[in-house]
Amino acid sequence: MKINKSIGVFDSGLGGLRIFKSLTDSLPDYNYIYLGDNARLPYGSRSFDVIYKFTVEAVDFLFKNGCEIVILACNTASAESLRKIQQEYLPKNYPEKRVLGVIVPTVEYVANDLKSKKVGVIGTQNTINSKVFIKEFHKINSEIEVFQKASPLLVPLIESGEGSTEIENTVLKNYLRTLTSQEIDTLILGCTHYGFWKEKIKRIVGNNVRVVCEEDVVPRKLKDYLQRHPEIEKNINKEGERLFYLTDFSYNFKYLAEKFFQEKINFKKSTL
Ligand code: DGL
Repeated sequence: MKINKSIGVFDSGLGGLRIFKSLTDSLPDYNYIYLGDNARLPYGSRSFDVIYKFTVEAVDFLFKNGCEIVILACNTASAESLRKIQQEYLPKNYPEKRVLGVIVPTVEYVANDLKSKKVGVIGTQNTINSKVFIKEFHKINSEIEVFQKASPLLVPLIESGEGSTEIENTVLKNYLRTLTSQEIDTLILGCTHYGFWKEKIKRIVGNNVRVVCEEDVVPRKLKDYLQRHPEIEKNINKEGERLFYLTDFSYNFKYLAEKFFQEKINFKKSTL
């Protein structure tokens, strides 16, 4: 099943649904297809070659099902694969289509706010190892100090959907302490999953730290991108259609996704 002339949103699992929802809430007229590769989650600890292969398969699937543009709503995929996809894969295979990430728009948003001098980033092991946030900040302003903390236990804890246990809070506090001890003024949630714990994270870091979530940034950046690229925008239909694909029908995923959307979702199975 496909929706022609649509916007594709891809994540390794649940977190991208938050970006998907915020896109469809902010720009509701466009057609959208979501793909969550939950059968192969987590991406955060895999090698570059495997992440690239999985991401290319996902992008190819979304293009074949009618997407004109794909948002990699996954920091790990954006950090590890976006550049190679844009520079090598697209020109060879889909020169007229586009793939965009979530990291550069978020960095631009934070760096252009002159109040940000000491920025903390939490993310998966791969995102942090890639140092992509540091590199992108320093392209814009080399005086911004960036402190990073890999937080590999958060994705499985969030996907378990437990809620608020003592173990979760202890793990989270330990990760965040490394950054708050540097007196950061801004904290970027550099993994789409972490949005599910946004309020909990805000309570721990306190009012003096601004918490930035990509789902609040990406829709306005996409709107701006489409305004600057009418040749792409005109290829996306405005019929408000939605389609959800998963690579595995796990009960927990469906439960958490429907709880988040507060409605029943007709997920379709994709075999990548
Ligand atoms: N959603 C991914 C991200 O934003 C993390 C989940 C994973 O490890 O697959 O980095």
